[in-house]
Amino acid sequence: MKMDKRSWMLLEPDPIEWQLPDDLRARDQFKGADCGWVNQMRPFIQHYSKPGETVLDPFCGFATSLLAAGIEGRKSIGFELDENRVTISRERLARHQIEATVVAGCIEDYPAIASVDLCITNMPYFGCQWQPDTLSSSQLYRQPSYADYLRKAHTIFYQIKKILKPDSFFIVMVENLTLEGQLLPQAWDISRILSSLFIAREERLLCYQKPATTLPAYATETDRSHEYALIFQNTRQTVCLESTQKELERITQHGFHFSLIGSFAQWRDSSSKNQREPSDADIVIASDQQQLDALCHYFLGNGYMLSVWSGSIMAPISIQQLRGYHYLRAERIDLHGRRVSIDISLENTI
Ligand SMILES: C[S@@+](CC[C@H](N)C(=O)[O-])C[C@H]1O[C@@H](n2cnc3c(N)ncnc32)[C@H](O)[C@@H]1O
Repeated sequence: MKMDKRSWMLLEPDPIEWQLPDDLRARDQFKGADCGWVNQMRPFIQHYSKPGETVLDPFCGFATSLLAAGIEGRKSIGFELDENRVTISRERLARHQIEATVVAGCIEDYPAIASVDLCITNMPYFGCQWQPDTLSSSQLYRQPSYADYLRKAHTIFYQIKKILKPDSFFIVMVENLTLEGQLLPQAWDISRILSSLFIAREERLLCYQKPATTLPAYATETDRSHEYALIFQNTRQTVCLESTQKELERITQHGFHFSLIGSFAQWRDSSSKNQREPSDADIVIASDQQQLDALCHYFLGNGYMLSVWSGSIMAPISIQQLRGYHYLRAERIDLHGRRVSIDISLENTI
């Protein structure tokens, strides 16, 4: 299936030769219930990478994406924490005579791997009743709380950012969940975290054919026969230079003291305007709770969103908290889509 402009895709099940073979499936504790489809991965691999390039799957499970990469003539590397699945993956790939690297571990623990041209994965979902054969605290299937799950996902994505080539794509397949009758917006939350590190480009709805069953009146739960492919790019978003400059002047007029550092300062002070446009303005303020409170108040009153690690916050934030997060982001997008983004950090913490 080629990628077209339609925002949703109705996926065809894999032909038998690409499916996870029954004997390998039988060896998995979930009988491969969370195994994806080669047909789900192929159009994205075709579209967002070139033959001969390297595709990464940080949660490779049974190596479905590595198999799809091999079929498309790409090299690939996968990471998987469950040793049994690593063995299954290697056997599966060998049966297809596909050479790919399956690393037994979490990508976080391999900072030195070579850079890759595309990252594509099925997100391990939260709330899975995983019987650990590994005690790794990185296993996303066994995070004790949703907050732990999201925090761990954040640190893993951060590592991926470092090895994904500039301008390359990161495609994450993920769905929202219902757990104990409660909707868990996992797709939105993962998207928010990804947005803190990458530029969101698109979403695609992946639809799976399932027989429809009747929904009792007023019931809400669906069969979740769809998921999202969230398409992110490892690139920079620039700010509106003029609006940012004006805002910095306004903050000064309001009596706030700060020093401007980083790429915006360099851009502003440079005589040639040929250098890369900044993606934000970095300001440093004194470690003073009153000033921080006043600044947050100013931003909130002037149409800004405040966030730390892309999670919105409503002031107040304490000096101690801000030290832990390294910086607080104030972002404003106006009616014309002009973006001002100001990162606030404290003296002596950078
Ligand atoms: C949804 S499954 C992937 C299935 C895969 N897409 C396939 O079709 O073959 C998610 C996998 O991520 C693995 N996993 C979870 N956390 C991990 C981590 N931090 N590092 C590596 N693998 C992890 C789980 O063990 C699980 O096998």
